[in-house]
Amino acid sequence: MKKRCYITTPIYYPSGNAHLGHTYCTIMADIIARYKRNRGVETYFLTGTDEHGQKIQNNAEKLGLTPQQYVDGIAAKFQDLWKELKISNDDFIRTTQERHIKVVSEVFSRFLKQGDIYLGNYEGWYCVPCESFWTNVQVGEDHLCPDCGRPVNKAREESYFFKCNKYLDIVLEDFEKPKFVFPESRKNEMLNNFIKPGLDDLCVSRTSFSWGIQIKENPKHVVYVWLDALINYISALGYLSDDDSLFKKFWDNDDVEIIHLVGADISRFHTIYWPMFLKALNLRQPDRIFVHGLLMTKDGKMSKSKGNVIAPQPLIDRYGLDCLRYYLIREINFGSDGVFTPEQFIERINVDLVNNYGNLVNRSLNMIKKYFDGVIPQYVEGIKEIDKAIQDEVLKTISKYEELMDDLKLSEATNEVMLLVDKANKYIQAKEPWTLAKSEENIDELKMVMSNIARIIFVSTMLLKPIIIENYNKVFNYLGIEKEVKYKDILDVHYLDNLKLKDCDILYKRLNVNEELQYIKDNIKQV
Ligand code: MSP
Repeated sequence: MKKRCYITTPIYYPSGNAHLGHTYCTIMADIIARYKRNRGVETYFLTGTDEHGQKIQNNAEKLGLTPQQYVDGIAAKFQDLWKELKISNDDFIRTTQERHIKVVSEVFSRFLKQGDIYLGNYEGWYCVPCESFWTNVQVGEDHLCPDCGRPVNKAREESYFFKCNKYLDIVLEDFEKPKFVFPESRKNEMLNNFIKPGLDDLCVSRTSFSWGIQIKENPKHVVYVWLDALINYISALGYLSDDDSLFKKFWDNDDVEIIHLVGADISRFHTIYWPMFLKALNLRQPDRIFVHGLLMTKDGKMSKSKGNVIAPQPLIDRYGLDCLRYYLIREINFGSDGVFTPEQFIERINVDLVNNYGNLVNRSLNMIKKYFDGVIPQYVEGIKEIDKAIQDEVLKTISKYEELMDDLKLSEATNEVMLLVDKANKYIQAKEPWTLAKSEENIDELKMVMSNIARIIFVSTMLLKPIIIENYNKVFNYLGIEKEVKYKDILDVHYLDNLKLKDCDILYKRLNVNEELQYIKDNIKQV
């Protein structure tokens, strides 16, 4: 594992309020950032908003606002939402900030000087919502955007172009590195759909609207929003600025693992064009471009016209952060598309958080109170096969979890933890502490059982800490831990010996299925 980690989300278009899809990506990045920090990796986590482009300009005009007024309002709402969700980002970049604009202008000038960019004429199709250029073949006879399916507009204008073929071969070397683009299916999609058919030079300026970063060498042009946006990943770190210490620490350095989290809808820009821009700037490549799936509803992709866009707020207000985070990481296999259904949402909480984990914590700690006056017995080696097996299981789970998390297989890693919790519940059923407690002879065995269970509660809570950000500390507290807990403490089998438990409340309350289904149906629509 590298010493440092730089993790980013896409910078979102503030062309509407944040919905559950944006929230999903941000929460996953937050879980990765918290996991890395938990493991002692120095981590920098960036998110932000992508504020230029034709769509923003059009939206602002419709409301009678200047584009700046318009984006100021929505960017503030994004920031408020992330605060409420306790997202642990270290910075929030906005592409209308001076610190970003300066870098984009300089990069553009440098590309011009190097001959990477030339002036030509663009003739083709443009999708405003996706801010993407397409060819005749790509839009087909119906003239629809291949990404979002909406009608495209004919564009014919003088434009600057980036010479893609100059960098394609060099970039392909990185592209072929294992896990550079992940999952593998996304990598093949890029190769087959875009690279193999031949890559046209990319149009990197627009003249038909003005809401963008003006090109000082030719002021009737503004920088194409995707070139502008991708640069956020380095402008936020102070690239080309007087103080570039963050850039040196979190980009220009082999000790740092750079992870870009992106949705499947924008993988083309991140896996093909961004590496080329970096090459042209003579900068290192990210380690991983992780393409996560899209969150849909039963009636397909979330869209305003279908009226099926889900607002995160009502879910947080009623169920809290842990439940939403847990549901998203566990139910939507990270890297695949997933469908949000209220039924599964409620079931996941009831089955996993209430019955499995919450129940283990509450009932076992109550047993320790009853049998040992609330003092956790000392850890001893397993007496019988079943006891040795559960002790081994703890270590196996820790190493599987770490391997999966390091590989960004977040859903599978979470599942491993839950399997351990489930095994602990079964262990209790098999050992029947209530029967052992009936006879003085079994006191040593009872002590061992309860210390094993306390240890599993401790370990699983530490492994779930990046997800259950509201409750993990409560559980450490219930266990009587008073000092600051470190991740490596889970390897110390005697860490909990003789600690005195504190009183504990029910961690997660059982949800009434019918009532909650009604609540969700009545409230989650984004307005
Ligand atoms: N502004 C560009 C990104 C520039 S990054 C240099 C953009 N913005 S966006 O607002 O459309 O957000 C895109 C990202 O939001 C997706 O790539 C994805 O990470 C997230 N999601 C938006 N809708 C989503 C779902 N329905 N489901 C999951 N994630 C979704 O594209």
